[in-house]
Amino acid sequence: MTGDIVVEAVGLGYDYVSPPVCALRGVSFELRRGAFLAVMGPNGSGKSTLVRAVLGLLRPTRGSIRVAGREAWEYRREIQRIIGYVPQHDSVNQHLPMCPRDIVGLAASTRGVGRGGHGNLTARVNDALAMVGMADLAHRPFGSLSGGQQQRVLVARALVVDPHLLLMDEPFAGVDVVHRNELVELLAWLSREKHVTVMAVVHNINPLAHFVDHVLLLDNRMVAFGTPGETLTPELLAEAYGAEVPVLVCDDGVLHPITDHAADH
Ligand SMILES: Nc1ncnc2c1ncn2[C@@H]1O[C@H](COP(=O)(O)OP(=O)(O)OP(=O)(O)O)[C@@H](O)[C@H]1O
Ligand SMILES: [Mg+2]
Repeated sequence: MTGDIVVEAVGLGYDYVSPPVCALRGVSFELRRGAFLAVMGPNGSGKSTLVRAVLGLLRPTRGSIRVAGREAWEYRREIQRIIGYVPQHDSVNQHLPMCPRDIVGLAASTRGVGRGGHGNLTARVNDALAMVGMADLAHRPFGSLSGGQQQRVLVARALVVDPHLLLMDEPFAGVDVVHRNELVELLAWLSREKHVTVMAVVHNINPLAHFVDHVLLLDNRMVAFGTPGETLTPELLAEAYGAEVPVLVCDDGVLHPITDHAADH
């Protein structure tokens, strides 16, 4: 690994072939160990495409994306072992005939967590479910859980492998305000105390605005990468969203863009 750099994109671009879509271009940024990044942009701006590129699921059309110093596409099997991934909720099968304990346990055992013995694995699974407040519903069928509860199970599944990089595509979709704030605190703790690098795609950055180190603004190209103070400006947000985005400044001097209504332009 080059120093402590966990993710490094250099001139990253991706075009889908069928149908032909230029989804991303000119994306360059780096994340050090323990960094906390929010990725923002309107629908179709390339956020999930970037997530797939970090996972090594697609081969960049231009430039490169490296995870822990390795080309993501070429070394996808190796890098996926150090990534905890929370997919965009609608891409998950709602009717999985499994309960949260099994879903999280399967992820742990396929990644070799808890090889020390069965007790160890069970404890890890229970811890991960407790971290997202799902211990009480661990035996309910996944399909019978609410959308927000399912989302929290997916976060537990990503956490159980003790990832170096936590990659989340809209992890708060459908999660109520109390559990969302708990999840945000958990992510902030993981990045600060455990030095997990966290990359979260969000439509509404406000719950995270006080905690993230960096923001990446996308609109099928990199509009901006920098601190929240550098990036969450009305000018750059208007460039990304193609619409005026009001920005409020809270008592702590943190910028809070009101992007909810601008997200579907
Ligand atoms: N498999 C595909 N084939 C062709 N085009 C695709 C494919 N997947 C995505 N796209 C297109 O690439 C662009 C970027 O899509 P992507 O899913 O990365 O956007 P997004 O920012 O995650 O959007 P959302 O906020 O709706 O999740 C869009 O124009 C989308 O229609
Ligand atoms: Mg997406």
